[in-house]
Amino acid sequence: MFTFALKSGGKLNASKKMKGVEVIVKRKNFLFMLLLVSITVLFVACGGGNANNDADNNDGNTEENNNNENTEEANNDGGEEITKLVVGSDATYAPMEYIDDSGEIVGIDIDIIDAIAEELGIELEVKNIGWEPLFPALKNGEIDFAVSSITITEERQKEFDFTEPYYEAKQVILVPEDSDISGLADLEDKRVTVQINTTGHIAMQEFVGETNPNIVASETMPIAIQEMLNGNAEASVGDNSTVNEYLKNNPDAKVKVIEDDDSFEKEFYGLMVQKGNVEVLELLDEGIKAVKENGKLKEITGLDLD
Ligand code: ARG
Repeated sequence: MFTFALKSGGKLNASKKMKGVEVIVKRKNFLFMLLLVSITVLFVACGGGNANNDADNNDGNTEENNNNENTEEANNDGGEEITKLVVGSDATYAPMEYIDDSGEIVGIDIDIIDAIAEELGIELEVKNIGWEPLFPALKNGEIDFAVSSITITEERQKEFDFTEPYYEAKQVILVPEDSDISGLADLEDKRVTVQINTTGHIAMQEFVGETNPNIVASETMPIAIQEMLNGNAEASVGDNSTVNEYLKNNPDAKVKVIEDDDSFEKEFYGLMVQKGNVEVLELLDEGIKAVKENGKLKEITGLDLD
């Protein structure tokens, strides 16, 4: 509304200027400007801004254009301040995000976003969407942001925006206990399972070729690991966060974890928002900054992030 008033005001002034300097027009203009200024003052005084007040002036437009239905629903107090966000995840990734015995979505990522939400004073609704559907769900506005141990990559940044990193991870190789595999180089002609379209999948594609049939891409990481255990592959490649947890939870499984830090790059997880959704991005970044500063992030992850 505010943006509209400013725009039409601008047009009006311009067309009247064309007509010359008649006193009456000037006075009308003056009255109009006065009205505009009063509306502006009122708007600001009523705190009609978003949660990041400093971003108000230039954000009016962005805000209106990017508010998807969910965000608008979340702002159901009628104001512009965000009070609730809908979050999507692939809860198959213990200990980061998974379904506990009572059917609830829990995990380190969930603890992190809960801590962030607490700092921001907002409510969250977490939906278990699945890995592949997560990206379109964010694009079409079904969710306001995604948390799912999502590595910030240049490729993804072309289509989505990411918060500041909140977690550091890397790829590791899970192999049968008696395997001779000692690093990525040994995977060249081996069948390897990965979770589809994850950074593990991408790393393998870069190494052996995008369409190499030796890469077996499963829908979830637990399925990828199970495939390897069933003997359908000689190794699984995935994030250390979840592969190490698998070992912890299955001490009798005859598998071992191979680290190859020279071959795999460091990865950083971020929260993912719609491209251009400055409002939600800034809000989440504010929350991440807060949980970094007050030590809660470290308390939850046990990791130091620089
Ligand atoms: N970090 C990896 C990536 O971003 C894997 C993430 C998978 N997360 C999940 N919840 N399944 O590609």
